[in-house]
Amino acid sequence: MNNTQSLSESEKAITVADLIQPIEEHIGCNYMHWPDGGFFNGGTNTEVKGVLLTWMAGASTIKQAIKDRCNVIICHEPLFFHEKDELPPYRWLTPNDGCKEPEWHPNSIRRKLILDNSITIFQCHYGLDRYCMYAAFSKALGLDEPILDHGWESIFTLKKTMTVKELIANIKERLQISGTVRVVGDPDQEVLKVASLWGGMGLSDNIYWLRRAILNKADVAICGEMNEFFMQFAEDAGFPVIETSHKLSEEYGIASYAASLQEKFPQLNIRTKIEGRPYYTF
Ligand SMILES: [Fe+2]
Ligand SMILES: [Fe+2]
Repeated sequence: MNNTQSLSESEKAITVADLIQPIEEHIGCNYMHWPDGGFFNGGTNTEVKGVLLTWMAGASTIKQAIKDRCNVIICHEPLFFHEKDELPPYRWLTPNDGCKEPEWHPNSIRRKLILDNSITIFQCHYGLDRYCMYAAFSKALGLDEPILDHGWESIFTLKKTMTVKELIANIKERLQISGTVRVVGDPDQEVLKVASLWGGMGLSDNIYWLRRAILNKADVAICGEMNEFFMQFAEDAGFPVIETSHKLSEEYGIASYAASLQEKFPQLNIRTKIEGRPYYTF
């Protein structure tokens, strides 16, 4: 018997492949076939000493991973910011300045922290959206039993009919949101059937989901982040929408993934960076 064979399951080195395997199994294909995300520094064979799970791997998150002795970060959103390439007159300089990234630029700060400390980053966007994001946010809102069970287009009922205003109070309490939330529509309108549009589904690029919610006879949508084009669509359609936060709405999925990994790998150093909305209101 060689050394590898003599190791028990719990003593075997855990690699990044082991952490993403449950998601691959859920979706039914290898991560290489997912439409987005992937590795920066390292790969599936990287041995995991500790892993930090988060929504976006910003500078403070990378620093926390280093402090918590995590050599792997799994994040949901992109690691780097990319500027759109546009023609004049939408650019002051022609040709443009090539998007220089001086030391203060978030991309430079993140890249340096990661490379100097040999951190492996795996961005798991589509994978986590499919694996747990929708279910975790809907559950946090208390929406468990869909009356229309149609994947991400499902419609849920509230326990009782209430006004938009009452629903806002209910959501703020459930999600522990202090400060104000942005809302479109009549606050006194009575609602019962709800669409759950987590993350960036409330952005106008994703207007499909709002149109489908209205077609599926929802009375109201609760979204992650919404922009003003989306608000104008909702207003013209006479459909109320309540915004929570992109980040906050997806952090329930991060927590759920972390809990499932901790159950599978009880000895592993698994950390999260969960902070709620990335801004304050007053
Ligand atoms: Fe997402
Ligand atoms: Fe997102």
